[in-house]
Amino acid sequence: MTSDFSPKNIIVTGGCGFIGSNFVHYVVDNHPETHVTVLDALTYAGNIENIAGLPEDRVEFVHGDICDADLLDRIVPGHDAIVHYAAESHNDNSIADPEPFLRTNVEGTYRLLEATRRYGIRYHHISTDEVYGDLALDDPARFTESTPYRPSSPYSSTKAASDLLVRAWTRTYGLRTTISNCSNNYGPYQHVEKFIPRQITNILTGVRPKLYGEGLNVRDWIHTEDHSSAVWTVLTRGRIGETYLIGADGERNNLTVLRMILGMMGRDPDDFDHVRDRPGHDRRYAIDATKLRTELGWMPAHTDFESGLRQTIDWYMENRAWWEPVKAKTEARYKAQGQ
Ligand code: NAD
Ligand code: TYD
Repeated sequence: MTSDFSPKNIIVTGGCGFIGSNFVHYVVDNHPETHVTVLDALTYAGNIENIAGLPEDRVEFVHGDICDADLLDRIVPGHDAIVHYAAESHNDNSIADPEPFLRTNVEGTYRLLEATRRYGIRYHHISTDEVYGDLALDDPARFTESTPYRPSSPYSSTKAASDLLVRAWTRTYGLRTTISNCSNNYGPYQHVEKFIPRQITNILTGVRPKLYGEGLNVRDWIHTEDHSSAVWTVLTRGRIGETYLIGADGERNNLTVLRMILGMMGRDPDDFDHVRDRPGHDRRYAIDATKLRTELGWMPAHTDFESGLRQTIDWYMENRAWWEPVKAKTEARYKAQGQ
């Protein structure tokens, strides 16, 4: 059964974070018939500025926690879908302190599923390719929807747990859900703790970029706008109860990406430090998005990584006031970890 769904009034959890806020902009720009309620706790990773200036008749902001069942009872009625982005999202933080990941990613998803069950609305779950663990660098395979779950880190294991809750609630209680597992995103509004913005803003503040280990680990980069269009496609046309992998054939190792950034910013290609590797560091992620492309006809628009990266560098150069207030604190946290 396809959902063939025209959402009129959706809740976007985590809509003040990186990918959630890009999705809110995408909906406002492309789907004028849809109203968005952003539910966000504004943790260290959330920033209300990410949705500032959007029309008030299109976007409403609710400051709150997805674990708050009473709050969900107050806001969910009247909406026709939840698109669930809110999460603790950073692997390194999950290694330093896993507890918030258990609470937000596992309990938070449980609370949202229970609210979905009470009000009988549509639910789309945002997840990651990291639930599948990693691939060897010389393995030609890529992840598909039938790859077994084998998460490595506290972050990815809590995301895997949340995916399994969605599947169980769908089968047991008949919820109308879909899940998407996407590869590494890049683009505007990404927190400076993450790889690409960390290196760009290090260069802009006179700090040498930091590469974990040898930098041969591979990530499958996708522009966040392509992630948004894929999520909209699955939300409106995906088959209920199905999982779709989202990726745009963007595999590159970290050393290559760092050298591209250094080159684009006029620096020497060796002008960086090797730092302590991440414990349990996943070697390679790679997505086979055939199901999404063939079944739902989705295609990425940002197929030129170099130009997407240039635009992202420009965004961080033009929006210093957005990231400068959190930069020193983020670097101090890394320094304490030897990274
Ligand atoms: P982010 O850390 O930038 O943003 C997370 C947002 O969730 C923040 O606005 C934060 O305030 C909010 N939040 C956290 N805990 C909350 C709570 N208890 N209640 C309400 N709001 C809360 O994360 P991101 O990188 O934008 O990732 C968004 C989603 O996409 C996550 O589910 C993540 O697992 C998934 N994902 C991320 C990537 C990636 O490359 N970053 C790739 C695939 C999937
Ligand atoms: P990250 O952005 O944390 O995403 P994820 O852990 O979800 O893949 O890291 C992307 C890659 O970059 C990962 O292999 C770890 C590496 N990395 C560095 O080499 N240096 C850094 O400063 C950071 C933050 C990450």
